[in-house]
Amino acid sequence: MAILLPGGAGYIGSHTAVELLNKGKEIIIIDNFSNSKPEVLDKIKEITGKDFKFYEMDYLDKEKLSKVFEENKIDSVINFAGFKAVGESVQKPLEYYINNISGCLVLLETMKKYGVKKFIFSSSATVYGDPETIPITEDSKTGGTTNPYGTTKLFIEQILKDLYKADNTWDICILRYFNPVGSHESGLIGEEPQGVPNNLMPYIARVAVGTLKELSIFGNDYDTEDGTGVRDYIHVVDLAKGHVCALDKLDKEGKGLYIYNLGTGKGYSVLDMVKAFEKATGKKVPYKIAPRREGDIATCYADPKKAKEELGWEATKTLEDMCRDSWRYIEKNS
Ligand code: UD1
Repeated sequence: MAILLPGGAGYIGSHTAVELLNKGKEIIIIDNFSNSKPEVLDKIKEITGKDFKFYEMDYLDKEKLSKVFEENKIDSVINFAGFKAVGESVQKPLEYYINNISGCLVLLETMKKYGVKKFIFSSSATVYGDPETIPITEDSKTGGTTNPYGTTKLFIEQILKDLYKADNTWDICILRYFNPVGSHESGLIGEEPQGVPNNLMPYIARVAVGTLKELSIFGNDYDTEDGTGVRDYIHVVDLAKGHVCALDKLDKEGKGLYIYNLGTGKGYSVLDMVKAFEKATGKKVPYKIAPRREGDIATCYADPKKAKEELGWEATKTLEDMCRDSWRYIEKNS
């Protein structure tokens, strides 16, 4: 029985593919390479020494998707096929709503048609908006997203809740990622943002390697220890392992809709990140203080207790691991 990974050639999908293959699971990847490269597939094979089936296609293509379900024995689906650039989502809301929401609906409809009802969804801490209390637990209020990207995550969560309410034979797990960074320790796969990166870590790495001149720190007047924004950065390999644990839970216990935060429970500021990166890599990261970025919040970090208790999962990699592994990938691939 295979696990289908739409978007499996992307940043988080490829790292999860590696962890699943390492556990001896059978996977099938579908991807249209809208934000990834075909070489990633060979790299996954190189890291794991394992092979898998691949289909180059858009997951919105109902007919092709049905064919994938007809040709294979699929048991579960982990959906990574979402657009994720916040700024772009503000410029192109329809593209984001169509790709992320309609795509997910086509996927769920096709799963239903073929009697496949085990589904893991990549959500985001963005669904909490500006959190009322920190650390954030899974039962914290959701809503108040500040961009279409975040709203697609919120809407899909609601769709999944409605689906489960109507038919409780589905096994659904919603994983709310905090801030994924780093890359596989081999340096073979990693994050490949197109154009100038929006997120902090890829930006820092490009400044260190010399592709970008300096980092702009978006605000140093937040109500935090050093005035810069605080986030819960999590190593992508830890995050990937969270999916394996979530799948194990659905395989063993099933029948339910579960929601977990995947974070470390620790908050680091932008300045902490700059210092940690410099220390781990020996590279200087010049920066300037710039105005706040619209939609940003002061502090966001997880209470990861529920995932530890119910999935037996917790993040084990340190900030140093995150910086070192991000750097290794950039150095090898630029
Ligand atoms: C952002 C998105 C979130 C998404 C996540 C992963 C927003 C409001 N949130 O989270 O929805 O799930 O990315 O894709 O955009 N920073 C700088 N300079 C930079 C870049 C970032 O100072 O050049 C600061 C930010 O102000 C923030 C921190 O670094 O305090 C982290 O930013 P980022 O990596 O973009 O992640 P989030 O904003 O937390």
